[in-house]
Amino acid sequence: MLPLLTLDHVTKMYYTEAGEFLALRGISLEVWPGEFLGIIGKSGAGKSTLLNMINGVDTLTSGEVVFRSNGQEVFVHRLSESERARWRGRALGIVHQSFQLLPMLTLLENVMLPMDLCGLYRPRTSRQRALELLRLVELEDHAHKYPTQLSGGQQQRLAIARALANDPPLLIADEPTGSLDSTTAEVIFRLFERLVQEQGKTIIMVTHDTTLIPRFSRSILLVDGMIVTENRNHAAEADRQTDRGTPPPAGSDSRGTPNGSRPAPGDGLTRPGRPA
Ligand SMILES: Nc1ncnc2c1ncn2[C@@H]1O[C@H](COP(=O)(O)OP(=O)(O)OP(=O)(O)O)[C@@H](O)[C@H]1O
Ligand SMILES: [Mg+2]
Repeated sequence: MLPLLTLDHVTKMYYTEAGEFLALRGISLEVWPGEFLGIIGKSGAGKSTLLNMINGVDTLTSGEVVFRSNGQEVFVHRLSESERARWRGRALGIVHQSFQLLPMLTLLENVMLPMDLCGLYRPRTSRQRALELLRLVELEDHAHKYPTQLSGGQQQRLAIARALANDPPLLIADEPTGSLDSTTAEVIFRLFERLVQEQGKTIIMVTHDTTLIPRFSRSILLVDGMIVTENRNHAAEADRQTDRGTPPPAGSDSRGTPNGSRPAPGDGLTRPGRPA
C-alpha cells in the first residue's frame, strides 16, 4: 500500500514588505488511507499554511506534494492553478472554521453545487445523493431551508455534507470546531470519527484542542514551521489493522503510520450513490 499523500521537504517562504518569512521549514510527511491525522500547534505555527500546500490553494516554495488515489499519482505542486482547482474539486473535501456556505442557496443546493460544478454525477443523481448526505449529517428535514436559518453546529454539519459531495478520499479541516461551543464541537468531532471508521475516509484536521490528541489515529505538533513531535495512537492503529486485516507495510518509518485500507461499501454508514 502506498500513502494517500506524501509531502517531501516542503518549504514555504512568504515575501512581504517587511521581508522574507519562512513559514514551513522542510515538512516531510506521509498520510495513509484511513488515518485521522491531527495537526496541533500554536497560532502562527504554520498549520493553515501546511494545509494550503496540501490542498493546492497556495503554491510551495520547494519540495513535493504527491497525492495518490484510484491508482493515479498527482504531483500537486506541478499543476497549474486551474488544474489544481479541478483536482481539488474531485479529490478533496474542505471544511473551514467559518463554514463558508452560500447563503442564497438552500441546504440541498449547497450540497448539490460541488457535484454540479464537477460534473461527476447526473443532475438527478446529484439531487438524490445530496439528500442522502443531508440524511447522513441529520439535516434532511431542513433540506429546503437556507444556511442562515441554522445553528452553528448545523451549519458545520452542512459544510461537511458539502465536503463529501464528490466522495473525495481525503477531507481537510482547518479548525472545524473553532467557532463552536464544546458540546457542538464534540458532535462534529464524532461525525469525523464515524467518517473515518465507517466510510474509510482519511481526514487531516487542524485544531488547538490538545485534549483531542488521544482520539486522532496520529497527531503531529508543528512549531515554527517544523514537525517537532509525532504522537501515534497505537490502540486505534491496532484496532484498525485487526478490523481490516491489513498489516503495516514492511519498513514503514517514523514519518508514516500505516492503517487499514478503505472498507467495502455497505458496512456501517450508507454510502450515497457512486459517480455516474
Ligand atoms: N499570506 C501571508 N503572507 C505573509 N505571511 C503569512 C501569510 N500567511 C501566513 N503568514 C505567516 O506565516 C506564519 C504561519 O501562518 P499560518 O496561518 O499558517 O499559522 P497557523 O498555525 O494556521 O495559525 P492560527 O492558529 O492562528 O490559524 C505566521 O507567522 C503568519 O503570519
Ligand atoms: Mg490557521
